[in-house]
Amino acid sequence: MRLGVCYYPEHWPQSMWEDDARRMKALGIEQVRIAEFAWSRIEPTPGEYDWGWLDRAIDVLGAAGLQVVMCTPTATPPKWLIDRHPDILPVGADGRPRAFGSRRHYDFSSPSYFAASQRICTAIAERYGKHPAVAYWQTDNEFGCHHTVVSYSPAAVGRFREWLQARYQTVDALNRAWGTVFWSMEYRSFDEIDAPVATVTEAHPSHRLDYRRFASDEVARYNRMQVEIIRAHSPGRPVAHNFMQLFTEFDHYKVAADLDVAAWDSYPLGALEEQWFAPDVKARWLRSGHPDFASFNHDVYRGMSKLPFWVMEQQPGPVNWALWNPAPLPGMVRLWSWEAFAHGAGCVSYFRWRQAPFAQEQMHAGLNTPDNRLDVGGSEAAQVADDIRAVLAANADANATIRSKVALVYDYEAKWLFEIHPQGADFHYPRFAFEYYSALRSLGLDVDVVPVDASLDGYALIVVPPLPVVPADFATRLASSGGQVVIGPRTGSKTQDMQIPANLPPGALADVLPLRVWRVESMRPNVTEAVRLADTEDAKAEDGVARHWRDFIEDDNANALEVLARFADGHPAYVRNGAFHYFASLFDEALTVRLFSQIAQHAGIETLPLGDSVRISRRGALTYVFNYGDAAHMITDVADGAFVIGSRAIEPQGVAVYRSN
Ligand code: GAL
Repeated sequence: MRLGVCYYPEHWPQSMWEDDARRMKALGIEQVRIAEFAWSRIEPTPGEYDWGWLDRAIDVLGAAGLQVVMCTPTATPPKWLIDRHPDILPVGADGRPRAFGSRRHYDFSSPSYFAASQRICTAIAERYGKHPAVAYWQTDNEFGCHHTVVSYSPAAVGRFREWLQARYQTVDALNRAWGTVFWSMEYRSFDEIDAPVATVTEAHPSHRLDYRRFASDEVARYNRMQVEIIRAHSPGRPVAHNFMQLFTEFDHYKVAADLDVAAWDSYPLGALEEQWFAPDVKARWLRSGHPDFASFNHDVYRGMSKLPFWVMEQQPGPVNWALWNPAPLPGMVRLWSWEAFAHGAGCVSYFRWRQAPFAQEQMHAGLNTPDNRLDVGGSEAAQVADDIRAVLAANADANATIRSKVALVYDYEAKWLFEIHPQGADFHYPRFAFEYYSALRSLGLDVDVVPVDASLDGYALIVVPPLPVVPADFATRLASSGGQVVIGPRTGSKTQDMQIPANLPPGALADVLPLRVWRVESMRPNVTEAVRLADTEDAKAEDGVARHWRDFIEDDNANALEVLARFADGHPAYVRNGAFHYFASLFDEALTVRLFSQIAQHAGIETLPLGDSVRISRRGALTYVFNYGDAAHMITDVADGAFVIGSRAIEPQGVAVYRSN
């Protein structure tokens, strides 16, 4: 457990650097990330490198006892490079290249950018790969930020055709897999296939899905190129990338497979403002963030990181980029930091050391104000550094790895597929995955977030949010796990070519769930359907409501299914076959929590009715409690002497840490 900070020496006079480094160290910071946007200063003119300032910056940080996270600067190709190779610019859906003048203005498929990136990465890795102060690397910065995964350039289309050829071998196989006979869309060669854009009406869904898969693979290929260069010149130094919160535009599992550290950038207030949450939810958690949002991301990235995951950028105060930018309540920067460690983080690194008085992010807080005084976030970071010393001194296994009894299956292709064919405008996959996660967390459960091809052995409860494409061996792996399995609606509803399975949904899951979804309907946001549990005594009672979606399950007495809940019109809403539970809709929050709680009991897992503002995490022998609410929370069943941080009364925005046994 350690703290870091993001620092931009090129933004400040050299006369400030030594004092900055000294103050960072005094605050308790151990690692400093630099240079991810510094290409124009590293190579001011083509082929002429100016290493002097960067050498000095690294030396100053190293001399202060700080470790450097060195970045490749490829998120910001300089103007001269764009002017030499305009094909670097990504092309939007409107067919126009995006302009120079901000950042991330490059196309993952551009051969000239690939070559330029190889050159700058090699130069930096050669120069600093073995520098004693350089302890870690970061590739690029936030792949895909500002909608930059997909490009419609000629280079991208050319590589897409090669990608299709490798996947299907023959164009006839592609025509069959996609079903291009529909609307006379058949192709005679791969060269005839363009990007699925600018069509008169909806482009072919299988074509669109493959374009997303291709674009995702391009990100992985580009990252792998950088990782290989770094490893060749800087052996033994872990390589990280800073992913984004709830970002789904490429398959993060594939990119993380080439890294040592999956890091992510945590901006809980900006995220709340920008995501799907209803206005009353946004108002409620305005200055704290949603109690499950950062946690969900921690668990997503923990699951794909070989070394302990990091928060590479932690929100330190108000940000500049959401529609409205509130200030965090006092205590929240500390709470967020501890929440990350409780979920297994190795490092929490604040963005940024000092607020910049110029350019796009001049309204974005840092640990210090632009006039170089410690801001609230800076004081809270110092407090976290003190807390860390207390926790590490009290517990040898504070850095323990986490293994939960509950797994939540999380998939990137599912997002693309439901976005291409939502069938109901608000069928937003990450939201539904998050709602299941949130329900589990409100029951006090620690959750591992895992990919569909993960080993599921050892989990007592496995939760599968709507998963359209299920791998052929998924049913077998679920069954042999021995756990209770909850499966959301629309699971198994498509083949990997994006067709309806021959046996109808749940397709390949029919062996373990002998049901047939013969019809579906989507529901407007203002429409719900009552749900009644079979064991409810009052025949008129409504136990909750279905929202967004209904699967119509054949109600066939001959099959083995137990119907545990029905919709008001009599159709099954929740059915079970042994350990397999199938939800035919997305139920309201209270009903979801109630059902998960019952199923957890079947699974032999103890739950706690935490409600919506207190959250608990367990790591090693320590239990962490977080109070997102506006009233004090009392812990009643822990001895005073067990507390390492805080006490039995946890104030709003407070944190307590105690020894569990
Ligand atoms: C991140 C990005 C940083 C900075 C920050 C502001 O998305 O990586 O460079 O822009 O947001 O919140």
